[in-house]
Amino acid sequence: MIKRSYWLLIGLLFSFSTLIADSTLKKDACVSCHIEVDEENDDEDKIVSYYKSDLHVKLGFSCADCHGGDPEAYDDEDEAMWENDTFIGVIEKEEQLEVCGKCHSNPVFMRQYSTDIKVDQVTQYLTSGHGIALENGNENVAVCSSCHGVHGILPVDDPRAPVYAKNIPKTCSKCHSDETVMFESGLPTNQFTEYEMSVHGMALLDRGDIGAPACNDCHGNHGASPPYVSNVDQICGTCHSNNKDLFQKSHLNDIFLSKGLGQCEACHGNHDIAKPTDEFLNWADESTCKPCHEDSHPAKALALSFYQTIDSLKTGLEHARKMVEKAEHKGMIVSNLLFDLDDAKKALIHTRTNIHSFNKAFVDTGAAPGFQSIQAAIIGAKESLEEVEYRKKGLFIFSLIITFFVIAIGFKINEWKKQRESASN
Ligand code: HEC
Ligand code: HEC
Ligand code: HEC
Ligand code: HEC
Ligand code: HEC
Ligand code: HEC
Ligand code: HEC
Ligand code: HEC
Ligand code: HEC
Repeated sequence: MIKRSYWLLIGLLFSFSTLIADSTLKKDACVSCHIEVDEENDDEDKIVSYYKSDLHVKLGFSCADCHGGDPEAYDDEDEAMWENDTFIGVIEKEEQLEVCGKCHSNPVFMRQYSTDIKVDQVTQYLTSGHGIALENGNENVAVCSSCHGVHGILPVDDPRAPVYAKNIPKTCSKCHSDETVMFESGLPTNQFTEYEMSVHGMALLDRGDIGAPACNDCHGNHGASPPYVSNVDQICGTCHSNNKDLFQKSHLNDIFLSKGLGQCEACHGNHDIAKPTDEFLNWADESTCKPCHEDSHPAKALALSFYQTIDSLKTGLEHARKMVEKAEHKGMIVSNLLFDLDDAKKALIHTRTNIHSFNKAFVDTGAAPGFQSIQAAIIGAKESLEEVEYRKKGLFIFSLIITFFVIAIGFKINEWKKQRESASN
């Protein structure tokens, strides 16, 4: 009995939910007949069932809004489609700009739906590497549906959307890692494999840190073109502003630009950016500078001076930390010293950024407060440890005195006892 009503309820809920889904789909000739067409088609060609999840359906649009035709011609396929002048049928790549742009490039129309919606997608697209190549006849490029999908377009901030930050690298690499698609343009196909292993790729794809850039954060959404070499620091600089400000003021900036080396990219790469270590500055295998500079070049002295400054801060900080820990272990209050350690750690982090000035005096000045904090922590810890020793010694003398008194009192008591005994005798 209970079981039966349970199933009835589920059945009711199910038909109710399909009813809601269907009612969002405007019932017109196209939809009615294509539901039937779908029944005969394979799963992946069931357009209407895909289309149900499209945001355009929820806004009340239907097939004819993109494909044209006559949605009132219920019984006649020919009248609805083939004989109607507005009918587009399968929408070719070049036609998409017009079809999607009909609404998306029309500010008056779009503002009915949202006051701050952008209407520059098509104009931006035409300036992009994709748009230019399409005009030159490369049919393999991305158009609207390559990135957003079709018959199931989702809002861009939906985590399932192909243009959602975490999904972007896969969306772009569908083509950019495919040699047959990229053959005509002669572009390399290694961007994704390099990106995947980079600091940015690992942060976004492995740890879901959407603050890390996906392909479009560096290349743009609709104006996708390789960033101009002179723009690279602007692109990296949107997120790494301190590095950008320092490097732009450095004399290396002008040299790199005049030689066409790029800026950040010359040392860090673009898709394969590795996690920097201090060894980048050491004049050994991992040196960032060695691929471009001989041993006799002033770059060596400069890089090594940065390396030594950072190394001294690092070892100094480690030494100070150990001493402070020892004092803490012995029960001393070290909160002030922990502040010193913190300041020194900050100075170390800043120094790693400050090297982008490529100016020795600037780096040394920035590191100086770090060395002062290290010194303060070491002196403080030493004093605490001395105090421990002092207290230990004090305690020893104190207990000696006490023992002396105890013994003396013992003697005294004995003496009294004896005196009393002899008096009573
Ligand atoms: C009475 C049925 C019927 C109606 C009404 C109808 N269609 Fe079709 N449509 C079909 C059939 C059948 C096909 C061919 C299916 C196939 O080849 O798989 C088709 C094909 C299409 C195609 C693919 C064209 C191509 O060249 O392959 C599009 C796009 C399309 N219809 C859109 C529409 C739109 C938009 C409307 C409404 C204005 C509409 N249809 C109305 C039955 C209909
Ligand atoms: C937002 C615009 C838009 C709407 C609305 C839309 N389509 Fe399409 N449709 C397209 C585009 C763009 C293509 C070409 C897809 C491609 O090449 O990737 C296409 C392709 C097609 C095709 C041929 C290719 C295929 O996938 O089999 C058919 C059939 C079709 N649409 C039918 C429909 C029907 C039926 C509806 C309504 C239920 C509909 N479309 C609603 C944009 C739209
Ligand atoms: C190369 C991939 C790509 C192509 C091609 C592309 N888009 Fe986009 N689109 C994106 C990305 C990425 C976003 C932004 C997602 C975000 O903000 O998180 C976006 C955002 C949008 C938005 C939201 C508003 C905005 O501008 O940010 C609309 C609307 C849109 N695209 C429509 C289109 C239309 C129409 C076309 C064809 C002219 C098109 N897109 C072509 C990738 C693409
Ligand atoms: C009949 C008009 C119309 C057509 C044609 C149309 N769109 Fe839209 N589209 C809209 C409206 C209206 C919105 C909702 C805007 C809003 O509320 O932010 C929208 C939203 C979108 C969004 C989500 C934007 C966001 O901010 O999340 C994307 C992506 C999109 N459309 C892509 C396309 C693509 C791709 C095509 C062509 C295949 C297309 N649209 C064709 C009217 C249209
Ligand atoms: C449908 C396949 C496809 C998709 C998806 C795609 N692209 Fe492309 N893209 C191409 C092709 C093909 C070219 C080569 C155009 C040419 O001939 O120069 C290209 C060119 C480019 C260029 C210009 C390179 C140059 O040096 O000229 C950039 C940058 C680019 N794509 C970035 C992206 C980004 C970022 C995404 C994802 C948001 C993306 N693409 C998605 C196919 C695609
Ligand atoms: C951190 C920024 C950044 C990210 C993230 C990024 N790129 Fe690039 N990309 C660049 C720079 C910089 C260049 C080189 C520009 C130059 O030298 O003019 C470039 C060049 C390109 C080119 C031109 C051909 C080449 O390899 O030099 C393509 C295509 C490309 N990127 C696609 C992608 C794709 C696809 C993704 C995502 C998987 C991606 N990029 C992620 C910064 C980035
Ligand atoms: C959209 C913001 C954004 C852009 C654009 C960007 N980055 Fe990053 N970058 C990040 C974030 C977030 C991290 C931290 C990733 C992590 O958690 O490991 C990072 C990490 C790094 C690191 C490693 C730092 C460290 O201490 O481990 C380097 C080096 C780096 N980026 C260089 C670049 C360069 C060069 C460019 C331009 C070609 C660039 N970034 C563009 C956000 C960005
Ligand atoms: C001439 C080579 C060179 C150039 C140009 C360069 N860097 Fe660096 N960068 C380095 C070296 C070397 C390190 C490692 C420092 C360390 O960890 O000791 C580094 C470290 C970093 C770090 C991690 C340390 C920190 O500051 O958090 C980031 C982020 C970074 N660079 C971003 C950039 C950006 C953004 C640009 C462009 C504005 C840029 N770099 C230009 C050589 C360079
Ligand atoms: C992509 C190649 C490249 C890389 C990597 C590189 N440099 Fe250079 N650097 C140059 C070029 C080119 C010049 C100008 C010609 C010259 O002086 O040799 C230059 C010049 C210099 C100069 C002399 C500036 C002047 O006043 O004349 C210094 C100092 C320097 N680099 C330091 C470094 C340091 C430190 C690193 C590593 C952190 C580094 N460079 C990495 C290419 C590079």
